[in-house]
Amino acid sequence: MLTAESSLCTRPGAADPVASWTMPSVTFLHPGGRRETHEAPVGDSVMDCALDNHVEGIRGQCGGACNCSTCHCYVASPWFEQLPARGEAEIELLGYLETRRDNSRLGCQIVLSDELDGLIVEVPEKIPARD
Ligand code: FES
Repeated sequence: MLTAESSLCTRPGAADPVASWTMPSVTFLHPGGRRETHEAPVGDSVMDCALDNHVEGIRGQCGGACNCSTCHCYVASPWFEQLPARGEAEIELLGYLETRRDNSRLGCQIVLSDELDGLIVEVPEKIPARD
């Protein structure tokens, strides 16, 4: 039997049934100044948001396994400082990129949350080459 409490829809693993369906927005800034803003569910990554919305310049070739760097992006202040620190695999992958900057991140490693609503990421001019 459904009760008011049990009928609340939740994303798998979400602790808060109300916040679990919020949709933070992400703005992608392209070389040349074009910008596009999309929403994605809490728990999706910046890469997921980019792929779901066909954002040019973000490929996500390994599907978010932190194994390709084709989701490379730049995160400007104050957002950069709010992100969890890079993991070892992310640091290693970013180390191979010619286009790496101090604010480089892999989009698949940025998990969207309510706190990141309004996040702005810059799409690199050059997508890393992968076989
Ligand atoms: S999608 Fe491959 S490293 Fe992010």
